[in-house]
Amino acid sequence: MSSTFTPSTSVPLQATTDAAEATVAPSAPAGGGQVHRPRRLRRTGTLRRMVRETVLTAADLIYPLFVMEGEGQKEAVPSMPNCFRYSLDLLLEEAKAVWELGIGAIALFPLISHHLKDNAGTESYNPEGLIPRAVRALKQALPDLLVITDVALDPYSSEGHDGIVQNGQILNDETAAVLAKQALVQAEAGADFVAPSDMMDGRVREIRQALDAEGWINVGILAYSAKYASAYYGPFRDALDSAPKFGDKKTYQMDAANAREAIKEVELDIKEGADIVMVKPALAYLDVICRIKQHTNLPVAAYNVSGEYAMVKAAAQQGWIDEKAVMLETLTSMKRAGADLILTYFAKDAALALRP
Ligand code: PBG
Repeated sequence: MSSTFTPSTSVPLQATTDAAEATVAPSAPAGGGQVHRPRRLRRTGTLRRMVRETVLTAADLIYPLFVMEGEGQKEAVPSMPNCFRYSLDLLLEEAKAVWELGIGAIALFPLISHHLKDNAGTESYNPEGLIPRAVRALKQALPDLLVITDVALDPYSSEGHDGIVQNGQILNDETAAVLAKQALVQAEAGADFVAPSDMMDGRVREIRQALDAEGWINVGILAYSAKYASAYYGPFRDALDSAPKFGDKKTYQMDAANAREAIKEVELDIKEGADIVMVKPALAYLDVICRIKQHTNLPVAAYNVSGEYAMVKAAAQQGWIDEKAVMLETLTSMKRAGADLILTYFAKDAALALRP
């Protein structure tokens, strides 16, 4: 195919070394021969909106919230600008604001005081614990807002691990049994979804069986199916003071180098009864989101984690990037990759930015 650009005024071409210009045929008719012009569909904003393949909405977003004991308290999380730990009363106000922005769900994470932490995470299944109280209050104040509770021991563990520790090892089946108790207490408090983020083998089955045995057949399981051992969780662990006291989480969370293994984890969770499967983190794992989307008809969630949030905030604070544009581009990329739902600390900002 020959290049057929013709200048609208017939200015004589100058001798040039530029290949494109050198092949211009001044006598060819304008546009002749160039049938495919993808730019036609990008010409105006209306047109771009019309042919847009991925549309992000507030309804896709889930807002993670940190809750702590106390009254009238709201503590900043330094590594997560504009994120706070809320005492229960202020959590309710925040949840109301979230709901009014069109966000349909929140995911709760507790800051547990040190004297309540032990190796077995006993406080995690205390029916009068912080999370069950928060869920009851939330469901009473805002019955339509979906409440998702985290199922894992780390905020309750004196070792800062997601499971019970013995001789430096994380016990699998013993932990799964505790997780089932934790999920049950959360369901009894009114949680709409329980979300195991611990990566113990078989925990989705244990939890489903425990819920069903007590009649909680409509409480869903959002499984952190492909959860990687990631350095992107740092700011979150600051927020909950839940960093591991020894070692790392690599014997239970996935190796960042693996993608086929993510499919294996997803398949197992689906067999065990997951309603929604999740990939976490999101940004460095868009390929994993994409593969899982092709593999299952269940809704796929992605967790835009604390470190991903902190990077954008930090660069924006330096004036190095346009925060709103980068936020929307990032969230859109997750949806484009295949995420139906996105947990993100940007949920409120994005919902605001997306308002018509
Ligand atoms: C713990 C849990 C973690 C996150 C959610 N649940 C941290 C971890 O696994 O160490 C991380 C969330 C984030 O970084 O935003 N079960």
